[in-house]
Amino acid sequence: METVYLNGQFIPRDQATISPDDRGFLFGDSIYEVTRWYGGYFLDLPAHAARLRRSLKETLIEWEDSGRFEEISEELISRNDLGGDCSIVYFQVTRGAAPRTHAFPKPAVKPTVYGYAKRHSIDTLACERGVGLWMVPDPRWNRCDIKSTALIANILPYQEAHDRGFAEVCFVRNGFVTEGAHSNIFFVRDGTLYTHPESNDILSGITRKIIVALAAEYEIPLTEEAVAVDMIPYMHEALISNTTGEIVPVVKISDQVIGNGVAGPVTRNLQQLFRNRVQAANPVR
Ligand code: PDD
Repeated sequence: METVYLNGQFIPRDQATISPDDRGFLFGDSIYEVTRWYGGYFLDLPAHAARLRRSLKETLIEWEDSGRFEEISEELISRNDLGGDCSIVYFQVTRGAAPRTHAFPKPAVKPTVYGYAKRHSIDTLACERGVGLWMVPDPRWNRCDIKSTALIANILPYQEAHDRGFAEVCFVRNGFVTEGAHSNIFFVRDGTLYTHPESNDILSGITRKIIVALAAEYEIPLTEEAVAVDMIPYMHEALISNTTGEIVPVVKISDQVIGNGVAGPVTRNLQQLFRNRVQAANPVR
């Protein structure tokens, strides 16, 4: 039986219940985090923990045990016997349950804190062959830097992309590519990587941060500069990055083929450097 974490307790999944007055349910008034366990260790757990705490701070959600995020994540893995498996941990904190009104509950209520772990393996076919993105205007709010669970503006374009046979969305704001519905986007032109700078228009991806650090370490030119839609036909490579998929080549954006329509050399190199980085993070090498 799967064990989940809910409000301070580890309990069987089928005993986990939340109030219909929960503000996460009523308003999407909640934040989340997704981390990856590589069958023995988390990759960059402190960075995920820092982002979770930042999301809490920016949304004024008070979870007094936020310092326990790392320990709870590890415990979810062990209680579900996932120690040796590649898995993800999903974690969500809502402002809690209270009669519906837009104002914060007064007096304040305890947040609802929920976490689960599940087995997850990488989509090796996508990593090998690459995927297509469906380009749409970015309909989201201007705080995309917060990892909010209010994701309807991500979900609707994503479903449209999915129905058209594309693997992810390419959001465009004011003529520039921002990111995907659940990943960051990079382009390559003449050996230089381009990606949207950290701002309110994108989520600061942990995988994105790793790529930026790898590029610096291995002297791969990288510019944190948004790519104009008009420039997409001139790009030689593109890729998307996130915790669940790592680095996936992009071979098409809507009807525009990228480069030669196959994963390019910079993307391949980054995939290898990322793999090495994952191996290097293993504490029992
Ligand atoms: N999504 N941009 C958005 C909008 C995201 O939702 C995500 C992650 C990323 C990449 O961030 P990271 O590298 O830290 O995973 C960028 C997760 C995987 C999700 O929603 O499931």
